[in-house]
Amino acid sequence: MQYQSPFEDWYTYSTVHKPLPDFTCETGLVLFPPELVPGIGHPLVDKLGDHATRRLMMRKLESYNAFTEKLEYKAVMAASIKIAQNPRAFGLCEQAGREARLIVTDESHHAYVAIELIKRIPGFSELPPLAPSQPPFLRGLEELEKSLPAEFADDLLIAFVAISETLITSILRGIPRDPRVVSAVRNTVRDHCIDEARHHSYFVYVVHQHWASSAPDRREILASLYAKLIRLFLDPNIDLCRAWLLEAGLDLHDAEVVLRDYYSPERVAAGIRADSFPTLKLMERVGVLDHPTARPAFVEQKLID
Ligand SMILES: [Fe+2]
Ligand SMILES: [Fe+2]
Repeated sequence: MQYQSPFEDWYTYSTVHKPLPDFTCETGLVLFPPELVPGIGHPLVDKLGDHATRRLMMRKLESYNAFTEKLEYKAVMAASIKIAQNPRAFGLCEQAGREARLIVTDESHHAYVAIELIKRIPGFSELPPLAPSQPPFLRGLEELEKSLPAEFADDLLIAFVAISETLITSILRGIPRDPRVVSAVRNTVRDHCIDEARHHSYFVYVVHQHWASSAPDRREILASLYAKLIRLFLDPNIDLCRAWLLEAGLDLHDAEVVLRDYYSPERVAAGIRADSFPTLKLMERVGVLDHPTARPAFVEQKLID
């Protein structure tokens, strides 16, 4: 695939060159779309009152931003640096390698803004810290790395980041235009989306080239890895949601009832398919799904029938 730089207007349009977003939090508006926060609207949570609802929203926003920071630092920036330093290892041209450094800059800015946003939400400083936990994607990457021959460690990271950068989650899709949500959150997500549209086209090229330049042994590994990585990125962090529900005032039994209702296997699978749709189409276009080990792996992860 020919590289077409998505960064020609980078100095004009990238958000790192613009002022910080307007962090206004209007009273009467919500911090997050309620349907994306597990438990909100459930009768067992409604019984706890407005305080519990607001706390759950704060926790959701907090975890979304903490996740963004970790993803940018530990995965996207790390992968982009590897690409910048050795583009040929993944079949990328020299210009794409040079421009990976612009992604490092964008992502570092996204991590900064994510943390700034959360610090400026009224009432956030009084929120007690939750027990620190590693996001599941980092644990999952460590486990996958152990299961692979050492020489594929960089391919694992590049494949994971290419997946995460080509997915369009319901959060990125919906929040900027959601009039129920405070300006601070809408503006921050909107700015992030503007940069991510450029990264999306860049990583479409990365997936094409990484696959096309791979010898049969690397294809064999990538073919089943992609399916696992999509699930790893999109699977909900149920343990964390349970901790929020307990903190909001539910007992363990009721928390489990709420989680079972919100995260029914059908609902989780439908959400994951919707969010991964562009990436699944990409897998098809690139030819990954024609590989004999890919299709069963995608079916096993319930991404396709
Ligand atoms: Fe980002
Ligand atoms: Fe990105």
